[in-house]
Parts: sequence; structure tokens; C-alpha cells
Amino acid sequence: MPMPATTFRPLTEADIPFAMRLKEAAGWNQTECDWRRYLILEPAGCYLALYDGQPAGTVTTVSYGTRLGWIGMVLVHPELRRRGIGTALMRRAIEYLKSRGVVTIALDATAEGRPVYERLGFLDDYGVVRLSGTAPALTGTDQSPRPFDIEAVCRFDAAVFGADRSRVIRQLAAEHPARFFVAESAGTVSGYIAARPGTYAWNIGPWVSADTATAEWLFRQVLGTIAGSPAVVDVPLPQTAGQQLCARFGFAVSRQFTRMYLGEKPTPIDTAGVFSGAGAEKG
Ligand SMILES: CC(C)(COP(=O)(O)OP(=O)(O)OC[C@H]1O[C@@H](n2cnc3c(N)ncnc32)[C@H](O)[C@@H]1OP(=O)(O)O)[C@@H](O)C(=O)NCCC(=O)NCCS
Repeated sequence: MPMPATTFRPLTEADIPFAMRLKEAAGWNQTECDWRRYLILEPAGCYLALYDGQPAGTVTTVSYGTRLGWIGMVLVHPELRRRGIGTALMRRAIEYLKSRGVVTIALDATAEGRPVYERLGFLDDYGVVRLSGTAPALTGTDQSPRPFDIEAVCRFDAAVFGADRSRVIRQLAAEHPARFFVAESAGTVSGYIAARPGTYAWNIGPWVSADTATAEWLFRQVLGTIAGSPAVVDVPLPQTAGQQLCARFGFAVSRQFTRMYLGEKPTPIDTAGVFSGAGAEKG
């Protein structure tokens, strides 16, 4: 008997309950609010896979100009795996990002996803470690909101990250203004940090800083707003100062991803400046 066909349609708000069930089955941390953000950021680039006409899997994308595109939330219903649906979702996402003129496609792969991506031509870039812990109660943090220039934050980020993430940065700052901190030195942005709630833990990131002392100041500010709550931080493996900082505040490695890319080799990110990404699904 021929295998049922995998078809696609754009993911919509109405699919979020199904998408949440898939991510629950995988034990992931995303919330409904996260799924809504993916739809806001790339409404035409998020897909639902249908297998024999039934919802079976998801994929999201986000494009950072033409320099970089990101693929995330590659999830297939546990009972429908190993039938080519994951690969078909990836092909759909790659086709979409290429149609937008993106020259490099990247993602953070789980151990399960990595062989699927390797077969599609993705290459390893570097490892990313997830550090988990409970935000300690700290003294000497000041959580009063301060005005900042979001344009300057986006310019600072682009110079360090190597692509224009301004749509994601603006969105996170608007969603969680009480957990978005900016450091300035002589009137110039020298770092920023954001945190957002997850199902099981707060997600800390992006966390970008010109130096380790500023990174620590930012980390302390954000930890002060979530004291006593579980939190996770995804730190690039080459960012040893970031891992040491997290360890000092009681965080320990809980899992590992492989950052992979397809197409042009990514502009080497200034891993000295990127302490944590915007999330495995957004880069
Ligand atoms: C990773 C994941 C998305 C893969 O989805 P999938 O639909 O099973 O992927 P595919 O079917 O395309 O490929 C998986 C395997 O099945 C094999 N396969 C594909 N079609 C097949 C078929 N018709 N019959 C038998 N095997 C098949 C593939 O060759 C591949 O083999 P491998 O185990 O040697 O890598 C899925 O396991 C999942 O949702 N995992 C949990 C979440 C996760 O980790 N996602 C990745 C995030 S980076």
C-alpha cells in the first residue's frame, strides 16, 4: 500500500493547541505566547504538516534580512515519526527561506534532529550548552525601568551577532519590558539582556555584552526579577566566560545542542560578545 502523503499549510493561531501538545510530548519549554511570536515574526514561514490529512508536525522560520534564516520548532507527533515527515518539514522551511533570498540557514539541533539535518546537507558550526538553575536572591540589583534607545540596542546587537535581529529584539522588549535591561557606557550601548517565561523555566536571552563585567551586571539585573524561579540559559560552547558566570550563580549544564548551518558559512559570530542566544528556535 502506498505511504500516505505529507502536505502542508501555513500554521495559524488555531493550530497553537495542537502545536502545544507536540512540544509537551517533547518536554520543551515554549508557551502559547512563544508560538504567537513565531507567527508574528514570520507569518508566511511557519507550517503545519498534515499526514493523510491529519495534523502531524510543525516547523517555524525567522529571516534576519537575507544574511541569515533560522529554522525552529521541528516537531513530529511521536506516533508518526520515521515516515519522512520531519525531513519534508525541513525541505518546506528551507524552500521558504531560500525564496526570501536567505544565504545562510541555521538551527540548533537536538541529538534526534541532527542526523535528519545532516542528510539535508547541514554542517556543524559549534556546540551550544543549556545551563539550568534557580535564580538566586541577590542584593544590589536595581530593577527600576530605565529609558533606552531600542534602535541603538539593535545596532549594537547586529554588530556582534552578524545579522539584523531587530524584529526579535523589539518584540521581546515589547512583550516583557520589566525583564529587558540595557547597559550603557559613556552614552553608548554596551550590552543588553532579555528574559521571557517558559512552561517549566524562565528563558534568559538574548544576552549580549561588550565585556564580562557588563555581562555580569546584566545577568544580575535579570536574575533579580525572577529570584527563586527556575531558569535556563543557552550559551555557545566557545563562550567560556558566560558558562563560568552561570556556574557562579548556581547554573549547571542540563543539555546540549549543535548549531548547524546550510549554505554560506555564517559570519563568525563574536562569541566573545554573545553570552546567550534568543532561543534555540530563533538564534
Ligand atoms: C527529530 C524529528 C523531528 C524527526 O522527525 P521524523 O518525522 O521522524 O523524521 P524523518 O522520518 O524524516 O527521519 C527520521 C528517521 O526516519 C527515517 N525514515 C524516513 N522515512 C522513513 C520511512 N518511510 N520508513 C522508515 N524510516 C524512515 C529517516 O531515514 C531517519 O532515519 P535516522 O533515524 O537514521 O535518522 C522527530 O523525531 C521529533 O519530533 N523529535 C522530538 C523533537 C526534536 O528533537 N526535534 C528536533 C529539533 S532540532
